[in-house]
Amino acid sequence: MGPIILNIHPTGHFDNHVKEYQHIIVIPLSAAMGAEIKDVQVSALTDESFAEISDALYRHKMVYFRDQHISHTDQENLTRRFGEFGLDAYTEGVKGHPDIQSVLKEADARTHMIFGGSWHTDSPFLERPPAITILRAVETPPFGGDTMWANSALAYNFLSKKMKDVLSGLKVHMSAENVLSEVQKHAQERDPGKLGSMDIKVNVNSMVEGNFHPIVRTHPVTGEKALYVEESYSMGIEGMSEYEAAPLLNFLREHITQPAFTCRLRWQKDTLVLWDNRICLHHAFNDHDGYRREMYRTTVLGEVPQ
Ligand code: SIN
Repeated sequence: MGPIILNIHPTGHFDNHVKEYQHIIVIPLSAAMGAEIKDVQVSALTDESFAEISDALYRHKMVYFRDQHISHTDQENLTRRFGEFGLDAYTEGVKGHPDIQSVLKEADARTHMIFGGSWHTDSPFLERPPAITILRAVETPPFGGDTMWANSALAYNFLSKKMKDVLSGLKVHMSAENVLSEVQKHAQERDPGKLGSMDIKVNVNSMVEGNFHPIVRTHPVTGEKALYVEESYSMGIEGMSEYEAAPLLNFLREHITQPAFTCRLRWQKDTLVLWDNRICLHHAFNDHDGYRREMYRTTVLGEVPQ
């Protein structure tokens, strides 16, 4: 058998077209996913524009807004429109705003590991991982510091019926064991309790124990099916030996994150992004030494994945 060609090219199956909206303007980002929403300030949304933004988020998996001049309180209010705050498993939030997490790398920080620096979904080791993540840029490097996303629903659609049958009913063990041991390794070299420039406070036992979730999960609003496997936290498959599970998990990781299924955002100061954490993966980059990157993150509590 020759080399396995994984790369899929758009063949008419991709549908990142926008719908007609009355209150927002939406412009698709890539063929696979993502969209810019224009002509709204998220600090002053009507119920009608909020309903259209939610619809666009579920359709495009990630949406972004430029030039949003908002405070921590505005970000909290936007988050609460979607539901309760999700649990922040890594930090205690910023002063006076326990549900707002600072995602920071200082210009002089030289670190092997940054927060979110591999393909992952946010906190899948929790029983109820975040449904939605909201990230706001306050200071950005002149280049670098982009974020990529991969559409795991599209990746599921491109699997054969046979592979879908194999995956149906399987559960993935999501655990922070590898991530926390990397954090610890690098913390010894530098400041204990820090990940890059971020103060980290974690409950090691529960994060390592983690949870078992369906490898194919169903979106609670749209009914779409998506692959729930990634690089950082997917450690094994329930009922399989490591030897059996590893090749399948590796195949799925490579399949989901192939270029055709992704989009990439170049941040600017005051860019705000929302992504549907149930149905896409994302990846930050440690490529802006010498330049500060300061972001603020909130999450919306999700359901137990089904
Ligand atoms: C995250 O993984 O939530 C952070 C992503 C980023 O900093 O771009």
